[in-house]
Amino acid sequence: MIDLSVKLGPLAMKNPITTASGTFGFGLEFASMVDLGRLGAIVVKGTTLEPREGNPVPRMAETPGGMLNSIGLQNPGVDAFIRDYLPPLRAIDTPIIVNISGNTVEEYGELAAKLDQADGVAALEVNVSCPNVKHGGIQFGTMPESAAEVTRAVRAGTKKPVIVKLSPNVTDIVVMAEAVADAGADAVALINTLLGMAIDVKKRRPVLANCFGGLSGPAVKPVALRMIYQVHRAVKIPILGMGGVMNSTDALEMIMAGATAVAVGTANFCNPTATMEIIDGLQDFCRREGVRSMEELIGAAH
Ligand code: FUM
Repeated sequence: MIDLSVKLGPLAMKNPITTASGTFGFGLEFASMVDLGRLGAIVVKGTTLEPREGNPVPRMAETPGGMLNSIGLQNPGVDAFIRDYLPPLRAIDTPIIVNISGNTVEEYGELAAKLDQADGVAALEVNVSCPNVKHGGIQFGTMPESAAEVTRAVRAGTKKPVIVKLSPNVTDIVVMAEAVADAGADAVALINTLLGMAIDVKKRRPVLANCFGGLSGPAVKPVALRMIYQVHRAVKIPILGMGGVMNSTDALEMIMAGATAVAVGTANFCNPTATMEIIDGLQDFCRREGVRSMEELIGAAH
């Protein structure tokens, strides 16, 4: 076996492949199809302080080359996560990363402090980019000052690695990445979904009950690659790349653009074993090309 291990800042991963939050439940739902211990990490469903019902349905729609979602961060709340979901996750031989969202800066700090005490949580992914909620989310992720403020609050609440998940719905992704890096992030994750919509022409109405949603899937990959490439050139902290990764070639593109690790999202909905196939594909590529360490590939396209 080729050594595919990487270090996402302080977080050691046996290979670069993880799951994108919100596309893989709490991981255990996939246990009958996926060898969870083979994953480089698992990023679980977005978690908030209080339980949330999410947005009204319909809240998902297929689009050419992708899908729209407007879930609205439905989740059981952090206390239920720690009590009910975390214990079985501890048995999986891979880091568990918890994606967190708050309505206020203080809520992010409180979530970070709670999860800091939770045995089995390896790192936090700070969501300042959810496009589907009225408060928080993307509201913090489109201005460098507020993204930095959230990052500082989380940093103050935890010693665990902090990965800040950025929105592509900005003019300059580099400014956002620099702001959270300066505020203490250990890594950045990019990209979250692109704001979009679909219209049902028979009903003459938007398809999604919430009107707008986040676009993901192969259609967004070129945007993700461009942003990863730009951020890799500008900031020193590592990048968790994502956005339309369907196969190992897509993952390699992200890595060569500058991602240290790669999250698989929308692919999980149409091919639940995509992550396993991508890890196999990376192994094959490295064997064929004589690659001895992922370091040789990270940012290789620059
Ligand atoms: O609506 C949602 O739950 C999506 C979250 C996200 O894109 O971060």
